[in-house]
Amino acid sequence: MTLRTDIASSELGDGTVDIAVSYSAVNYKDALALQGFPGVVRTSPLIPGIDAVGTVTSCTDGPFTAGDSVILTGWGYGEQRHGGLATNLRANPEHLISLPPELSPGQAATIGTAGFTAALAVAKLQGAGVTPDSSNLPIAVTGAAGAVGSCAVYLLAEAGFEVTAITGRSEEEDYLRSLGAHSVVSRQEILTLAGKPLAKEQFAGVLDQAGGTLLATVLSMLAADGVAVASGLAGGSDLPTTVMPFILRGVNLLGVNSVSQPLTAREEAWGLWARHATRFPWDSVTNMISLSEARETAATVIAGATRGRVVVDVNA
Ligand SMILES: NC(=O)c1ccc[n+]([C@@H]2O[C@H](COP(=O)([O-])OP(=O)(O)OC[C@H]3O[C@@H](n4cnc5c(N)ncnc54)[C@H](OP(=O)(O)O)[C@@H]3O)[C@@H](O)[C@H]2O)c1
Repeated sequence: MTLRTDIASSELGDGTVDIAVSYSAVNYKDALALQGFPGVVRTSPLIPGIDAVGTVTSCTDGPFTAGDSVILTGWGYGEQRHGGLATNLRANPEHLISLPPELSPGQAATIGTAGFTAALAVAKLQGAGVTPDSSNLPIAVTGAAGAVGSCAVYLLAEAGFEVTAITGRSEEEDYLRSLGAHSVVSRQEILTLAGKPLAKEQFAGVLDQAGGTLLATVLSMLAADGVAVASGLAGGSDLPTTVMPFILRGVNLLGVNSVSQPLTAREEAWGLWARHATRFPWDSVTNMISLSEARETAATVIAGATRGRVVVDVNA
C-alpha cells in the first residue's frame, strides 16, 4: 500500500459532487482495509475510508453548491469506490447529508459511521418495545470502549436506560462511567458463563459489537422478551449459541447495517446527534490523527486497543 499525493481528478471515479475532504476516520472496516485483510476492499486500486466530512467544491447535478458542508458515511465508499482517506472525493448527491449547523466538521467525523450505527441500534431496540420503563434490568453494551460502543453507551444513558458496559479493558471504567454507564463488567467475567444454553436473566437487551462467543453468552443472559441488536464482529463472525434463548425466553435477535440506510434514517440519526452537540464529551471520545498515521493506527484498532473514535485530519 502506498500514500499517493498525485491522484488526478479523472481517477476519482463517477459522481457529480466533488468534495474537499476535511476529516475521515479509521473505522474497524477501514482498519481491516488498511492492514490488507480480505473482505472489505472489493476493487483495486482503492482509496479506503468509509467516512468523509468536507466541503463541496463543485456539484454538476444535485442540490449542493460549492461551499456546502457535507457528511458521507457508508454506501460502499472505501469498499467498492474511492473513500474518504484522501484530500479529494467524488460522490453521488443522494449519498450526502448536509452537515447540521449544530455540529462542527470535526465533531461530525467523531460521530461518523460509529455514531450513526449506535443511533440505529438504539432506535432498533426501542422499536422492538424496549424502553427504560419496560424492565428493571439494564441494557448491556459490548465492545463498550470502542467507537460504536462508546456512542451506544452515551445514547442509551441519555435516553434514560440503565447501561452495563461490557469491556475487555478494566482501565476504561472511568471513561465508560463518564459516558453514562451505570456499571462496568469485564468481558472475561461474562465469558465464564460461555457454553450455558441459559444463564440467570441479567439484561433486558444488548447492543452488541462483538459477535462470537461474547454475543452467544449475553444472549443466554437476556430476560424474557429481551432484545439483542447485533452490529459488529470484533470478537468473531460466528455465533455459537442454541435456540434456547429464543424458544424458552422469547429473545429477539435483530441486526443493524449502516451502509445502505435510506436518507430518512440518516437525517433522523444526525438530527439526534445534533441535539447532543453541546453535551457529548467530544474530547474524551476523539483521537485525532494525521493521514500518514492512519495505517499504523489501523493495527491498534484491530487489536481493540483504541478508545472511542479515531478521526483522521486528512490535511494534517
Ligand atoms: N453493522 C454496521 O453497520 C456496523 C457499523 C460500524 C461498525 N460495525 C462493526 O462493529 C464492530 C465495532 O466497530 P467499532 O468501530 O466500534 O470498532 P472498535 O472501535 O475497534 O471497537 C471494537 C471494540 O470491540 C471490543 N473487542 C475487541 N476485541 C474483542 C474480542 N475479541 N471480543 C469481544 N470484544 C472485542 C473492544 O472493546 P472493549 O475493549 O471495550 O471490549 C474494541 O474496542 C466492528 O466489527 C465493526 O466492523 C458494524
